[in-house]
Order: sequence, then C-alpha cells, then structure tokens
Amino acid sequence: MNSKSENAKDVIGCDLAPDLQLNLNVRGLPPSATLAINERSDQLARQGVKVYKMGLGQSPFPVPEIIVDELKRNAFQKDYLPVKGLLELRRAVAGHHRRTFGIECTEDDVLIGPGSKELMFILQLVYYGDIVIPTPAWVSYAPQAQIIGRQIRLLHTKAENGWRLTPEQLDELCRSDPSRPRIVVLNYPSNPTGTTYGLEELRAIAEIASRYRVILLSDEIYGQLHHEDNHHSIVPIYPEGTIFSGGLSKWCGAGGWRLGLFVFPKCLRWLQDAMAVVASETFTATSAPIQYAAISAYQESEEIDWYLYQVKRILRSIGRKLVTLFNSTKVNVLSPHGAFYLFPDFKEYGERLKCLGITTSHEFCEHLLQETGIAMLPGMDFGRAPEELTARLAYVNFDGKKALEAANQIPASLFLDDNFLYSYCAGPIVATENLCRWLESL
Ligand SMILES: Cc1ncc(COP(=O)(O)O)c(C=O)c1O
Repeated sequence: MNSKSENAKDVIGCDLAPDLQLNLNVRGLPPSATLAINERSDQLARQGVKVYKMGLGQSPFPVPEIIVDELKRNAFQKDYLPVKGLLELRRAVAGHHRRTFGIECTEDDVLIGPGSKELMFILQLVYYGDIVIPTPAWVSYAPQAQIIGRQIRLLHTKAENGWRLTPEQLDELCRSDPSRPRIVVLNYPSNPTGTTYGLEELRAIAEIASRYRVILLSDEIYGQLHHEDNHHSIVPIYPEGTIFSGGLSKWCGAGGWRLGLFVFPKCLRWLQDAMAVVASETFTATSAPIQYAAISAYQESEEIDWYLYQVKRILRSIGRKLVTLFNSTKVNVLSPHGAFYLFPDFKEYGERLKCLGITTSHEFCEHLLQETGIAMLPGMDFGRAPEELTARLAYVNFDGKKALEAANQIPASLFLDDNFLYSYCAGPIVATENLCRWLESL
C-alpha cells in the first residue's frame, strides 16, 4: 500500500473501500503542466497578487462571429454523428487544407475528433511503434506515450538551429535500427518556441523519413497563425507517410469547443480505420452542434480571412516588441515565425541565479512567479534538461476582442505601433518589461 492509499483510508467511510490500484503507467503522472500553472496562477490572483498569466497557451481572440452564429443555429442538433465526422464538415476540411496548404485530400481522408490531443492519443494507442519527439516539445506528446506504454525517443534540438530537428539527427536515430516502426512528431510553427521550418528544411527531413519509411505526425495546429502567412506543410513533400494534425483550437480561438482533425494519406487508411474503431468504442463522435458550426470555419469566407489577417498582425507586432525588449538584456531568444510563444534562455543570468539557490528552470519559474507574479512554464516541462534555464512565455494575456476591434480601425498599410500595443496588448509587454528589470536587478 502506498501513502496515497493510506491517505484515502483517513477519509471517513473509505476504510472499507477498495485499495488504490492504479495502472503503473499512470501512477505518479502529474496533471498536464499547462493546466497546473493556470490553476496555480488563479490561486495567487485570488490571494490578491497581480499575476501575469503567460503559462497557458490559449488564444486570446474570440471565435469569429459567423462561426458562433452557426453554433447558435445548430444548438438543436442532437443526433449522434458518424464516427469519422460529419460528411459536410469533412468535405469542408478537405477543401480548406487543399486550398491553404496544398494537401491533396478528400473527405474520405479526414477524421474528426474532440480535439487533436484525443486523436494523437488514439493514434499512439493503435499504432505499435516508438514515438520520436524533438524537444523542446509540446507538453502532452510524451505523457500520452507513457500512459500507453510506448517507447519515447527524445531528440534535443538547439537554439542555433532555430530549435529545429536536423535531418542528421533523424538519420542517426533511424540508422541505429532502420526497420523499427516509428512515429516522428513535427510541430511547426512550434509550441513552445514560435519558430518554424522552411521548405528546404522540410524537404531534407522528408527525405530521411521516406528513406526509413517512418510515419510523420505533422502537428500544424498553428499553421494558420504563421505571422507572415508563409506556412509550408510537409504533407505535399512526403504525402505517403505523413498524417496532418490540426483543428479549431488555436487559429479560431476555440480551444474549449474541442474540435480537432487528422488528414491521412490513402496508404495509411488502415490506421485511420483502426482509429475510427477505437473512437467508436470511446468518444463515439464529436459534439454535433460543434461539427455543424465548424463547417463555416473551413469554408472560404472574407470575414474569416479578415479575422485571421488581424489576428496575425497583432501577434506579429507583439512578438517583435517582446524580442526587442529581451534584446536589451542578456536573454537569448529567437524571433517567432508564428503562434504566440517565445522560448527565452536565461543562462547568461545563471551565476546570479545560482546565488539565490536557483539552478533549474522549474526553480526559476517558481521564483519568478513568487517575486514578480509572472507565470511561465519551465523548459523542463517541454523535455529539456532541468538545469537548462529556459522557459515558455505565452503572449496571450490581453483582451483579444478589444485588440481586434481596435486593429480593425487601423488601415492595413500601417504598422501597429507602440501606442496600439500599450493600449490593447499591455499584459505581455508590461510583464516582459518587469521581467527584464527584475533580471537586471539580480
Ligand atoms: C502543439 C499543440 N498540439 C496540439 C494541441 C492540442 O490541441 P487540441 O486538442 O485543442 O486540438 C495543442 C494545444 O495546446 C498544442 O499546443
């Protein structure tokens, strides 16, 4: 019996309850890091502390109105839908991904799920092979593999390579056991670094992936949020082996709606079908009103194009401003290409931090939260070594609705200047200024 079960026995009425018998893969696994930091920030805020919530990676922008209207119109939809997703939605999704990312696909290749996170979990469940994760990596790939009991191979990338996996790294791993089944995850624009891959880099990786016939899981959930509207997908380069992953959560500000999707190559139909079987025995189908509403998100529309234009314009301006602020200190940080994250490295302050007893990214973030109210997630949550003093900053702590309304009033030919940023996006900017000041005062 472990200490948790002893605690349970202390609860009145629990002394006759069954013993704690958790699956060994789940035992000791903490809750998702991003959700934990959010709860911790809320708790501090309730105690009256001014908190800058840059821990949770949630879009600050509202769901576009035409999609919300569709949801209202479809609230009455009550029937279970087909397990692979509503046909009209799959058709719209296929059309959108053909138009925007050049992915040759039809509705038959699309699988809809309650968030791409759930689909990734089911993919790992049905496919028997290792999962290869370049780090820094989104926080949930590795825990999912651990829950299922898959082998995890981390490939640590470097800031000087733009935090990108190099073809040499992938080749070295695959060469050691060429026929081993593997899923290699690529996420670009990246959570947590904001950087992405160019066409040449994708080609080089695709060549290695194809040589060893690995499956690529191309997590492009931030693809529509490339700040310069210049996202390239690896799917058209390695179509036979790449599964595309995306959804509404980030570009549409609809994380809580829970709608994600995979697009499969025809030769991996067996995998899609196996996933649909598991889906049919677990979540059955994604919420009907949400699927009906999502059709409008994936159809061509000037309103959504305009929304995305403004969203990217705002994110690009904040990203640039924050990098400029960091550049006036000794913090190392790369300019973001997309999404709403930065992954600064505070190693130049390592000696001074050591004097305060801070030697890991976790201690750094804890201390920072206590001292300044700034919530960020430590690099170690993204698979980096504990003593690497990196952290993820999510520049989302501002009122996205107000910022959008204001940006709409500013001619598209003009930059969003400091006046705009301090008026509508002050949260991340003031927090970064405070952070820089705090570092310099150490
Ligand atoms: C890189 C990345 N992939 C996937 C997801 C999962 O998104 P969802 O399950 O909302 O589709 C997230 C969410 O934070 C993410 O950042």
